[in-house]
Amino acid sequence: MSTPASDVLELKVRGPLPLQGEPSRKAVRRWGQPLNAPMREWQGKRVWLVGASSGIGLACAKALQAAGASVVISARELGALGEWARACGVQGPPVALMPLDVTDSLQVKYVTRQVAMGGQVDLMLYCAGHYRAQRATEFDLADMLRHQDVNYNGLLRVLAEALPVFLQQGFGHVSLVSSVAGWRGLPNGLAYGPTKAAMTNLAEILYMDLQDKGIGVSLISPGFVATPLTAQNSFQMPALLSPEQAAQAMLQGWAKGLFDIHFPKRFTVWLKLMRLLPYRLYFALVRRFTGL
Ligand SMILES: NC(=O)c1ccc[n+]([C@@H]2O[C@H](COP(=O)([O-])OP(=O)(O)OC[C@H]3O[C@@H](n4cnc5c(N)ncnc54)[C@H](OP(=O)(O)O)[C@@H]3O)[C@@H](O)[C@H]2O)c1
Repeated sequence: MSTPASDVLELKVRGPLPLQGEPSRKAVRRWGQPLNAPMREWQGKRVWLVGASSGIGLACAKALQAAGASVVISARELGALGEWARACGVQGPPVALMPLDVTDSLQVKYVTRQVAMGGQVDLMLYCAGHYRAQRATEFDLADMLRHQDVNYNGLLRVLAEALPVFLQQGFGHVSLVSSVAGWRGLPNGLAYGPTKAAMTNLAEILYMDLQDKGIGVSLISPGFVATPLTAQNSFQMPALLSPEQAAQAMLQGWAKGLFDIHFPKRFTVWLKLMRLLPYRLYFALVRRFTGL
């Protein structure tokens, strides 16, 4: 079972330790220590994955369940997972399927309450995502707003319901699947990129607001992963990973207590460096690499 005690190992807490659920006192992480309490042990843990009927989210759910966590999976279309979920219930920790459309506030409220009533929540992973390539020359307002509603507003709806649950518990971890597309503007990302930039910024602020409340926050920034979301890409995706490889990279990041979990490094390190470039150079390099 997860307790705030695991976090205490990583923290130098000013004053006596807070009781579970009590507002915690300011905590300072020593230089060189991980930004989050490392999550290595999944036996007895309970994880809620939002937007995990396929791709990265589903691979993560499978990896976490195999590592011993009981998982709750939410998305709109969960029918294909019924047989696997039933088989998991017979052998190993249970898998619960809770249908959810993150664009519907009432559903988000209802499902979050159901999840909270089922027991502690050690990790909430938000990976619901919508992506269609779009360029300014074919501006499509409806699809722009659709991206915002699923990728960002959906997250806000979930946080509005889930954060009080975490604060009441006094422990847990919120992990957001953003994207390297949120680091800087990229062609075709007119609708998608800004939603991921907003998520990335939100994760940074959530971390600062929640670190002394015993609640971890991590930001996941994948490069290219072969999922239904990227199947529409007509170009050769560099450093392409399988969803299972992405899930392993995420588990490794959580085990190290990282805030910034990005992969594969052979791709993301270059993009990190490109973030530092002045615009003139950045625009020229992107044009050269993408031809767009
Ligand atoms: N694949 C990549 O290369 C890549 C790279 C960087 C970041 N990402 C991010 O990774 C996350 C997962 O994407 P993926 O690549 O694994 O693609 P995916 O297999 O298409 O997964 C997207 C998930 O979002 C769910 N979803 C979409 N709309 C929803 C809604 N209204 N309510 C609830 N769930 C909804 C989908 O389930 P339903 O359709 O059943 O609702 C699905 O489970 C996304 O946030 C994506 O932006 C992916």
